[in-house]
Amino acid sequence: MMKKHFILLLTLLILLMTSCNSDDGFTPIDDVDQGPVAPLVFETKLSEMGVFSGVLANLEPNPNVHLYDLNSRLFSDNAHKQRLIRMPEGKAMQYNGNSLFPLFPDNTLISKTFYFYEDESNTASNKIIIETRILIKTEGTWKLGDYIWNDDMTEAIYSDDGMLVPISYLDTEGIVQEVQYQIPSNQDCISCHHNYDIAFPIGPKLRSMNFNPNNEETSINQLQHFINIGMLEGISNISDITVLADWEDEENYDIFERGRSYIDINCAHCHQPGGLVPTGFLLDFRLEAEFSETGIYEHRGQIEDRIQSNTPDYLMPIIGRSIVDEEGVAMLIEYLEAIEE
Ligand code: HEC
Ligand code: HEC
Repeated sequence: MMKKHFILLLTLLILLMTSCNSDDGFTPIDDVDQGPVAPLVFETKLSEMGVFSGVLANLEPNPNVHLYDLNSRLFSDNAHKQRLIRMPEGKAMQYNGNSLFPLFPDNTLISKTFYFYEDESNTASNKIIIETRILIKTEGTWKLGDYIWNDDMTEAIYSDDGMLVPISYLDTEGIVQEVQYQIPSNQDCISCHHNYDIAFPIGPKLRSMNFNPNNEETSINQLQHFINIGMLEGISNISDITVLADWEDEENYDIFERGRSYIDINCAHCHQPGGLVPTGFLLDFRLEAEFSETGIYEHRGQIEDRIQSNTPDYLMPIIGRSIVDEEGVAMLIEYLEAIEE
């Protein structure tokens, strides 16, 4: 019975396919010969995602997976972050005509792994790896998933539920630091990564990748490197792309550029039209918003207060940190005191 049905179905399918071929003058597109590529899914184990090779805890990317860095820092309780991107075979990111996001092909994977060193003054000391966050794009939309590492650092398991993990490490001055690290739930991911109910990546804008990261991946301009290895297409000259100011770089950027850059990276994903923040509280913190439209000047007192607060539901960012970003706060106060209406 089952077999008969199956054969019938198969015959129908073949008929359908051949009729399409003749009727529509269907011609195969370039990459059809690669065979159908199954849409990416979140496997249970991180080791099954094909991101890393060898001993998982070494965080060694597979040859087709590429390290990328951003030129301005997002604060997450001092955790280190490794960001990786993988394009599907034969595909590239496409320039979209501006310095914001390129177009990512289906089956793009982006990962971000959070870790501390047991001894922050010695990067050869063991890593305390906490979570690997992953974005995959399938059927035109992004999906978010999180893998939580086990204590032995041998595997990480998919989970939608956040949890609080106590972390203890030696800081660069040799002082023991205790952090209650909050692993976000899937709902939390959505709070930051959604705009008008559509999931988005936040970091890999062209202007944030347009610099020389001098990392294990490349020691030239990162965009140029991606172009050279065929991962990015459509840009004829990288000087057409703007550069986001590194807010830590006092030499090359003034306090106004540094302040706006920090607020863009650390705050704008929630504070922009379509973001999490309810209307009424809407501040448009995007770098591309006119200063007079951002609300930064009018709210400077509130901003100063909330970035230094640790009170739950009052502190800003409202999720993503439990301690104050001392360095960031010092710069922001200087910025908030310098701005004029
Ligand atoms: C408090 C806001 C916030 C929350 C919550 C959050 N993210 Fe992000 N995420 C960011 C910001 C900002 C960036 C870009 C800066 C960076 O890479 O450090 C980012 C970057 C990423 C990246 C790298 C690609 C990209 O979008 O830039 C991935 C992957 C990612 N997040 C996945 C997740 C997942 C999965 C969750 C939930 C488990 C999550 N994030 C929760 C703010 C957040
Ligand atoms: C994860 C999302 C999220 C991020 C990231 C975030 N905020 Fe907010 N912010 C909110 C929400 C939600 C509210 C409204 C509720 C409230 O006032 O607590 C808010 C309110 C505010 C207000 C009060 C506005 C008013 O009209 O009273 C200020 C000021 C503010 N945020 C500043 C910041 C700054 C500065 C940053 C970055 C350092 C930041 N926020 C990052 C979600 C966020």
